Amino acid sequence: MEGHKGGLRPPNQVIKGGFAPLTPRGADTTLSVQDLWVEYRTRRGTVKAVRGVSLDLCRGEALALIGESGSGKTTLGLSLIRLIPRSARIRAGRVIYRRDGQEYDVLSLGSEDLRQFRWKECAMVFQSALNALNPVLKVWDQVYDTASAHRQAYAHRTRQRALDLLRLVQLDPERVLRSYPHELSGGMRQRVLLAMSLLLDPQVLILDEPTTALDVLTQRAIIDVLRRLRKELEFSLILISHDLSLAAELADRVATMYAGAIVEIGDVYETFYRPRHPYTLGLLRAVPTVTGQMRDLASIPGCPPDLVNMPSGCKFHPRCPYADSRCQEEELELAQVGRGHAAACFHWQQVQYELEAREGA
Ligand SMILES: Nc1ncnc2c1ncn2[C@@H]1O[C@H](COP(=O)(O)OP(=O)(O)OP(=O)(O)O)[C@@H](O)[C@H]1O
Ligand code: SF4
Ligand SMILES: [Mg+2]
Repeated sequence: MEGHKGGLRPPNQVIKGGFAPLTPRGADTTLSVQDLWVEYRTRRGTVKAVRGVSLDLCRGEALALIGESGSGKTTLGLSLIRLIPRSARIRAGRVIYRRDGQEYDVLSLGSEDLRQFRWKECAMVFQSALNALNPVLKVWDQVYDTASAHRQAYAHRTRQRALDLLRLVQLDPERVLRSYPHELSGGMRQRVLLAMSLLLDPQVLILDEPTTALDVLTQRAIIDVLRRLRKELEFSLILISHDLSLAAELADRVATMYAGAIVEIGDVYETFYRPRHPYTLGLLRAVPTVTGQMRDLASIPGCPPDLVNMPSGCKFHPRCPYADSRCQEEELELAQVGRGHAAACFHWQQVQYELEAREGA
């Protein structure tokens, strides 16, 4: 990155010592989130939207963030590129970005470096982004504006990159560049947004619910496009989705969020077939096609917690069939429950025992 025109300036201070609680052994980490706390100030009180999240994103890996509505997935994604609304505050923690042997403390970047960091290093396609394109500008003008804003305004080179990317997302590139957004279907607009997010060749892409507003066949096509993009461009991906089948198809690892905290994280196969947190188990039960043998498990009773007035102890205890008095008093941190697999639950072994007993039955 050093020496790149218009890129991030070298950091004044290289951060020493990694905090890598759940990095696969020997993996090359692009982004490290360390004990991140984010809250919103509201009339009702403080919404604790992200509580003590730590995770590492490795080079080229896809990490899915799953969890019910309101669990803090979007807030976490926005915090990584410091695009949280004015009512929000990053109360504590660190986000470390690594490239070419340098480490950058994202939460301390100045405004110009931050502008370069977004899009060029870490791009995000927002939730409900289908209307994000400017309706009065042709796609090419929007592509060119994006490149210009990041000092990449060589029209010929930008056009060539846009054509290549649009081809990769399986659109007719010339036609799309000449079109206004309203001339494109929802699926086409989502592909254009994916292509635009990759225009400046970021190392990290954050996709927030990329298929939610699309019909099933279009969703399928977007999944295929994402697979292809990852294979060709080898960026790291954070995939935010409440759709577990999307996570199963695209992610290498999965992290379950509940009440602003990560309560389970691990390899996608391991986590989906051998969940150890009762909440992940409950989520999986709602998607029987992911793991057919869990069809008969109980659903999650009750509602997600109010993040202003949270329950004591483990935030899941009012809904958890395994809860006991200890769960009401103490909240556990993530602890290893398998190879590269961690969960925050006092009774994960009981979950394991019951699942294994079912499998053996
Ligand atoms: N601008 C805001 N002001 C106040 N509270 C907010 C704001 N945005 C989000 N919240 C609250 O923060 C919490 C986390 O919200 P967030 O949008 O991050 O969750 P999410 O997991 O992305 O949910 P969804 O699946 O519905 O997109 C929720 O309780 C939400 O109500
Ligand atoms: S710690 Fe207790 S309440 Fe929380 S998920 Fe585990 S068993 Fe349930
Ligand atoms: Mg969201």
